[in-house]
Amino acid sequence: MILYGSRKLKSMTLVSLIVSTTVGLFGAGHSWADPSLILGPLNCTHCHAGAFPSWKSSRHFSTFADLPKRQDAYDIARKMGVKRIKSDGVCLECHYTTKIEDTGRVKAVAGVSCESCHGPAREWLEPHFDGFGTAKTTLAKTAAALARKERAESLGMIGRGALYKMAKKCLACHIVPREDLVNVGGHVAGSKFELVSWSQGEVRHNFWYSTDGSNPDAGIEDKRKMFVVGRVVELELALAALSKATVKNTYAVKMAKRASKARKITSALAKLLPHMTELRDILAVANSAELKLNNRDELINAAGKISVLGLKLASTYTGSSMAVIDEYVPGPEKYKGKVWKK
Ligand code: HEC
Ligand code: HEC
Ligand code: HEC
Ligand code: HEC
Repeated sequence: MILYGSRKLKSMTLVSLIVSTTVGLFGAGHSWADPSLILGPLNCTHCHAGAFPSWKSSRHFSTFADLPKRQDAYDIARKMGVKRIKSDGVCLECHYTTKIEDTGRVKAVAGVSCESCHGPAREWLEPHFDGFGTAKTTLAKTAAALARKERAESLGMIGRGALYKMAKKCLACHIVPREDLVNVGGHVAGSKFELVSWSQGEVRHNFWYSTDGSNPDAGIEDKRKMFVVGRVVELELALAALSKATVKNTYAVKMAKRASKARKITSALAKLLPHMTELRDILAVANSAELKLNNRDELINAAGKISVLGLKLASTYTGSSMAVIDEYVPGPEKYKGKVWKK
């Protein structure tokens, strides 16, 4: 309960609280990013010039202009009572980055952008490069660099290696955990998401620490870990999504299937990777919750426990101990979209 209940309100400023209650936008989904803490992508690109063009060639970027032009989007919006897709409705939550203008108005400034994944940056922007400015750094883990990273992360940055939190960002949008949007709006009930294949194609931007600017993929050890962590997060968020199901319709059916499939995959992984005892515990927690309608407390409780175990798992193991799963880890032919190269 605690894990899901109070997190949002804590970081909300008064102005965004007023705005969000007025507009009624940011209620239920975890995909919501507090617009009062958003700076917008132009505050990142002058230092991270490598990440910019790859983002610009992704659907996360193009959805900004494309969505309002699509007939299917218009149909969904109409059924949801949304008049202007880009300015006054639930679509802002997952298709756009919103920020609060000086006038106090919430405005879409980009599609899905840097802070949608790395966390709203108002508080961590300066701490994360403190002492370096625009200078490129190396991977050297000096005490100063570690302290800087730790501080930025404590202020909300989701940086390199924070796989569990990152995957949660992706799936909070990609599961589409909104019953009304699916049942009433007719929106697709989630993506066929898998973290390795979906992050190593058009989303990939691995420039800052690579010396030759070649945008290499994450490498097999990190990919193994991404595969496992992505599956655990899928299970957590599928249970959380199902907890919101109140009527027997598409949403409930799809989310129950999603959760059931995620349990099966976790069970297979627990057998292949017996040294990762958390997988066994996660499975036991997931199996203890019934995948049914109007079962909010039990499902949310299970999701909360999985979150704790999953974070522990992600901080305990490296991919070097997971070679047995290599045949299941997606290779380049499965990467989603085109990798950006100079
Ligand atoms: C003034 C230059 C500058 C700006 C502006 C800037 N960054 Fe950075 N960024 C850096 C530097 C320098 C590092 C490397 C820090 C280090 O190695 O300790 C970095 C590192 C990072 C990392 C990797 C952190 C890690 O865990 O290793 C991420 C992610 C990141 N920046 C995202 C962003 C985002 C998102 C924005 C915009 C909201 C942004 N940056 C704006 C300079 C900048
Ligand atoms: C909870 C997150 C979320 C919200 C809210 C949301 N979407 Fe989406 N939408 C997604 C995701 C994720 C996809 C990509 C699905 C996929 O994998 O193809 C998507 C895809 C779409 C597509 C393309 C569907 C397809 O078959 O590729 C349309 C059209 C769309 N959304 C319209 C809307 C409209 C209109 C709204 C507001 C009324 C909205 N969405 C609100 C997450 C969301
Ligand atoms: C769809 C989510 C997503 C978006 C949008 C996104 N990133 Fe990232 N970013 C990631 C992921 C995933 C990684 C790899 C994390 C890891 O290695 O653990 C990453 C890594 C990084 C890194 C470190 C790797 C490197 O060498 O470059 C930086 C810096 C960064 N992102 C900056 C940005 C900036 C700036 C933007 C906007 C122009 C941006 N990101 C947009 C998900 C995203
Ligand atoms: C704020 C919500 C949000 C977050 C966070 C997010 N996405 Fe997306 N993503 C979307 C939406 C919406 C679309 C569909 C855009 C469209 O087609 O209009 C999409 C599309 C994509 C696509 C293109 C899919 C296709 O069918 O071509 C990929 C790949 C993708 N996302 C991967 C990721 C990964 C990996 C992460 C996390 C590292 C992530 N996304 C985080 C909302 C999000």
